[in-house]
Amino acid sequence: MEKKKTNFGIIGLGGRGQGMLGEFLDVPGVRVVAVCDKYADRAQAGVRIVQEETGETPDMYLDYKQLLQRDDIEAVLIMTTWITHARIAVDAMRAGKHAAIEVGGAASIEECWQMVRASEETGKYCMLLENCCYDRNEMALFNMVKQGMFGEIVHLEGGYRHDLRSEITLGRENRHGRLFNFMHRNGELYPTHQLGPICKLININRGNRMLSLCSITSKSRGLNVWLRDNKGADYDITEYPFNEGDVTTTMIRCANGETITLHHDCSLPRPYSRDYVIEGTRGIFQENSHGGEIYLDTLGEKGREPEWFEFPPVREKYEHPLWSKYTREGVHGGHGGMDFLVLSAFAESVIEGHEPPIDVYDTAAWMAVTCLSEQSAAMGGQPVPIPDFTNGMWIDRAPYHRGLYCLGEVCTDFFKTEEQA
Ligand SMILES: NC(=O)c1ccc[n+]([C@@H]2O[C@H](COP(=O)([O-])OP(=O)(O)OC[C@H]3O[C@@H](n4cnc5c(N)ncnc54)[C@H](O)[C@@H]3O)[C@@H](O)[C@H]2O)c1
Repeated sequence: MEKKKTNFGIIGLGGRGQGMLGEFLDVPGVRVVAVCDKYADRAQAGVRIVQEETGETPDMYLDYKQLLQRDDIEAVLIMTTWITHARIAVDAMRAGKHAAIEVGGAASIEECWQMVRASEETGKYCMLLENCCYDRNEMALFNMVKQGMFGEIVHLEGGYRHDLRSEITLGRENRHGRLFNFMHRNGELYPTHQLGPICKLININRGNRMLSLCSITSKSRGLNVWLRDNKGADYDITEYPFNEGDVTTTMIRCANGETITLHHDCSLPRPYSRDYVIEGTRGIFQENSHGGEIYLDTLGEKGREPEWFEFPPVREKYEHPLWSKYTREGVHGGHGGMDFLVLSAFAESVIEGHEPPIDVYDTAAWMAVTCLSEQSAAMGGQPVPIPDFTNGMWIDRAPYHRGLYCLGEVCTDFFKTEEQA
């Protein structure tokens, strides 16, 4: 039987917004009735995507506040530029809509608190669409960690290491949001791709929390060299003194004693990597260019020096049941399939009326790393405290919602029911 449709609005239709809109329309129960971008051609592109996929014509807005005035919309996806995410999410919740926001960091701690307060006061959800929490490797590793295969987790690493030199420097020509951030800011601008999965592994905001961080940034050279090579010496920003260092390294300490290292690295030539490392008392995983490598005490031969084992065959054995189901039914969509899963998780929480697997406390804590990192870097790497957005409730939280998309545990029983049905 077809699911009853729930009405959603979409705000922000750049490259990412348009791609996600196409996928969102495939999620059961989703109807998109309104699209918005401050550029008319992009809003129109959103209208066309909905028309082509569904035959329906959504209303088009250039001002998101007008979209939020509608009372027939349950929730919005916000896929705008980094410094607009939190304020639009707050306005959406205060207008009675659940909010999902694309990834990016916060510009201030105040805006993180505003998201928390808006969600608490209105009862509306605010979910960061951190797709990497649903990637295949991350989910299999989550499954293994929750089964205790790495022992007790001690140290984690991750990064956003992505050569974005053309995307950043051609920001004006392409009307893209990153350029002005790299011109003016300096710190961990994009922390959540690996921090999200890491926080879920070590129960941040549920029995654990991030206490403090320090960030050190390198000099900034990569964008100028790229501009000289590709746009020439006369191009107006070729010699611009970009504030953002080419590599930012951030170290975080958690209440339960784990340490986390993050790398932000987007303006030097390099293949993409999120550099995931999980180190526990019984084993280690580290990402590499062919799916990762692993060593566990239980994999090695007793008495022999530890050696690396290829991760993909191990992953097959410990696949997360959500991915087993997904591969059976047909993986589709962007970024290897994880985009569709994170969208499905948000849609399910709105349609069924339960807390999303990434809640407002996760959203605030993960996004806060950006502005805290800027503060620490500005002081030469001084440690800065990370606020407790749960106001003490991290030691005594209401239980999370269990189900297919749960990121608190692997809810095997839900998949059994599905398979038997
Ligand atoms: N999760 C992922 O894998 C992934 C991948 C790519 C991008 N992203 C994120 O998605 C977001 C969008 O990325 P993008 O590459 O499309 O950026 P972009 O700068 O090309 O697009 C942002 C769009 O938002 C619109 N916008 C900005 N402020 C607005 C406002 N107040 N009202 C209405 N529209 C507004 C802009 O006009 C623009 O079209 C960013 O946060 C980015 O970091 C995530």
